[in-house]
Amino acid sequence: MAIVTGGGGVVGRAAALAYARAGASVLVAGRDTGRLGEVVKEIEAEGGRAAGFAVDVTDSASVAAMVEAAVTRYGGLDVALNAAGVFGMLAPVADYDEDTWDTVLAVNLKGVFLSMKHEIAYMREHGGGTIVNVASNLGAHWRLSGAAAYAASKAAVSHLTRTAARDHIADGVRVNAVSPGPIDSPMSMRPGETPAERDDRMRDALPIGRVATPEEIAAAALWLSSPASSFVVGQDHVIDGGATA
Ligand SMILES: NC(=O)c1ccc[n+]([C@@H]2O[C@H](COP(=O)([O-])OP(=O)(O)OC[C@H]3O[C@@H](n4cnc5c(N)ncnc54)[C@H](OP(=O)(O)O)[C@@H]3O)[C@@H](O)[C@H]2O)c1
Repeated sequence: MAIVTGGGGVVGRAAALAYARAGASVLVAGRDTGRLGEVVKEIEAEGGRAAGFAVDVTDSASVAAMVEAAVTRYGGLDVALNAAGVFGMLAPVADYDEDTWDTVLAVNLKGVFLSMKHEIAYMREHGGGTIVNVASNLGAHWRLSGAAAYAASKAAVSHLTRTAARDHIADGVRVNAVSPGPIDSPMSMRPGETPAERDDRMRDALPIGRVATPEEIAAAALWLSSPASSFVVGQDHVIDGGATA
């Protein structure tokens, strides 16, 4: 049984479909219940099992209820992908809006902390599990002027992943992260930019010559969630077409 936070988003949708195709029941969690419902319908149309769940990852009680809902509905929790995230704004540090800073850190960092806290608390009492956090190559690895809160939050997720992995591998809970580069999604586009303009802007920065598909990120998450990666613990996997190679 898998939980995907940010399940109505671009990466979360692709991952939820990938987990369902691999045979998991999926709790597709996020705020926009309309989008969650669409992903659930897509999974069910392929013969998979899924349900939507409205969660605010910045709220501990809401995250606890998400884990409880997964257990009540599907009888357990084996896999979690913590993909909920927001970009915030692009502005130099001196001009960066404080409220935006607080929101980005609350969703991207505290949200991952709270998600893991409740997911691990269940998993360690019930045979273990795997967790994958979605960080970004803009965390520890790549530089983008103006992305203060986003870059700081994602670097912190990378470190939080390592700490949680060390804390809980003996409990049977295996924690890793993925750090994608730009993905074909609204988040990688500047305000008013078209996908083609985004691709032109990115081409030189990405040795592979294109942005990622969400399915390429989902495939890595699926591998990290599976026994095929059983000796991989506490690692942040940069998946960015060579941008930080
Ligand atoms: N797209 C990229 O180029 C890129 C690159 C590197 C890393 N990433 C990371 O990959 C992850 C997914 O990104 P994406 O491109 O799929 O973005 P997305 O389509 O905007 O999806 C992000 C999801 O997070 C959810 N979310 C935001 N705040 C939330 C909250 N407080 N509680 C619960 N859910 C919340 C949103 O749900 P609602 O709409 O319902 O609020 C949305 O479904 C993010 O962590 C992002 O930082 C993305």
